Order: sequence, then structure tokens, then C-alpha cells
Amino acid sequence: MAPAVERDPLEMEVRERPLPAHVGIIMDGNGRWAEERGLPRLEGHREGSNSVREVTRTARRIGVQALTLYAFSAQNWSRPADEVAGLMDLLREYLASERQEILENGIRLDAIGELERLPRFVREPLDSVREASARNRGMVLTLALSYGGQEEIAAAAEELVRRARAGRLPPGPIDVETFASALWTGGLPPVDLVIRTSGETRVSNFLLWQSAYAEFIFVDTLWPEFRARQFLEAVLEYQKRERRFGLTSAQLPK
Ligand code: IPE
Ligand code: IPE
Ligand code: MG
Repeated sequence: MAPAVERDPLEMEVRERPLPAHVGIIMDGNGRWAEERGLPRLEGHREGSNSVREVTRTARRIGVQALTLYAFSAQNWSRPADEVAGLMDLLREYLASERQEILENGIRLDAIGELERLPRFVREPLDSVREASARNRGMVLTLALSYGGQEEIAAAAEELVRRARAGRLPPGPIDVETFASALWTGGLPPVDLVIRTSGETRVSNFLLWQSAYAEFIFVDTLWPEFRARQFLEAVLEYQKRERRFGLTSAQLPK
């Protein structure tokens, strides 16, 4: 018998329409989820990792090519030290517990951000899963860790200066493609859909360049309660939108 999920009418409807190639998610609201229950904030982050697992599985199953998850921002380093330490522990636990599933499902794990700022006990398992999954072609799962969009754009400018000094970039105008090639997301497709949970309607320094023509979906659901169903609902909403890229509606292919 086919698993129940394949007969889910919502999933079937999503599968019949063109999928976003690249989805980015600002996973917000873990702290509030915990505080509403009188629990320490870290319990919200812990429950949030179950949402990560479920949403990753769902994205992979329906055939999304790239999923980028905002897990820890460059600005999040300024949170209380015990919360930062707890988040780093959870990251290490996540990498250990998901390694097998990532490899078995043909997922390539990658990471973007100022990764050198991460403690060694996170960087080592991260690099290990990245290396072990480097040849997988099923879906690229990118963790944005110690990540900031402005920091990334500044780093890309530095990278272009390095290329120019090394004689690998001829002097003259820099086009959009050249600039994009110097970003940490170099090889990823443009972002089609950005989802933010928890009711906040801001980008908080996530994929600033890459989301230039993304569709944005803001949902009130807190991240620990955002599961397969909520993800599929967001993708379906995206599929019903008309993306015009500056053209008029009449100019678009029918
Ligand atoms: C998102 O949840 C996770 C991280 C930013 C690490 P928050 O921790 O921001 O949760 P809220 O926004 O305080 O509810
Ligand atoms: C954005 O959430 C960063 C992540 C989800 C990792 P924040 O909770 O840090 O964003 P602000 O502070 O509300 O803008
Ligand atoms: Mg938040």
C-alpha cells in the first residue's frame, strides 16, 4: 500500500503545479512557542528541530531542488550566552542525528555564513556531513549559520577584489552574474519563495541579494508548529501567484 502522504489531496495538488526551485525559510518563533508554555526558550529550539526534519523531508519528497534554512544569524551571536551555547549544542545534535537520513535520501548538505565563527564541535560534524554528501544530487539543503545577507554581500565585494588582484577578473564593469558568482550561494538557483514564520514581516538580513524576485509568504504559525501541511500550504499559495519580473501580465507566456 502506498504511504498515506502520497494520497494527501494537498500534496497531490502541489505536485501537479510547477514547484519553486529554491525555497528559503526564516524559521522564527521558537522562543515564543516555549514562553507560551512556560518552558525555557531552548525547548522551543529543540521542538523547532522536529519541524526542520519534517519540512526537509517534505521538500525532498515533492522534488524541491534547493532548500535554504535560516538557522542562526550573524546578529544572533549577541543573544544571551546560555542561549547561544544551547543553540550550538542543538546544532551539533542535529548534525549527528540527521546525518544518516541526509545521506540515504540523496540530500547534499551545505552551509553559508561566517562559518569560521562557529565552535569547532559544530564545524567538524558540519564539514564531515558536507563532505560525505558532496556528490548527492537529490536536493541541496543549505543551512544559513552565523549568516547575514549584508555580510555576504560585503564578502562578495572582497572576493571580487581578490579575483581582480590575482588577474582573474578583468578591470571594467561588473555584471549581475559576476557579482552573484562571488556570493556564498554561488551555485544555487535564484530564490523563488521565502517563507517566514511567527508573524514577523521583515527579512532580518536573510538572502538579501538572492530574494530580489522571490515571492514572500509570511505566516503567523510559530516555527515549532510549522510542519508538512503548513509547508505544502505555503507552496500552493506560491503556485497560485503570478510572477511578472517587471513585465505586464499580458506579456507573460500563457
Ligand atoms: C528563531 O526563533 C530561531 C533563531 C533565531 C535562532 P527565535 O529564537 O527568534 O524565537 P522568537 O522570535 O524569540 O519567538
Ligand atoms: C531571524 O530571526 C534569524 C533566524 C530565524 C535564524 P530573529 O528572531 O533573529 O530576527 P529578528 O531579531 O526578530 O529580526
Ligand atoms: Mg525571533
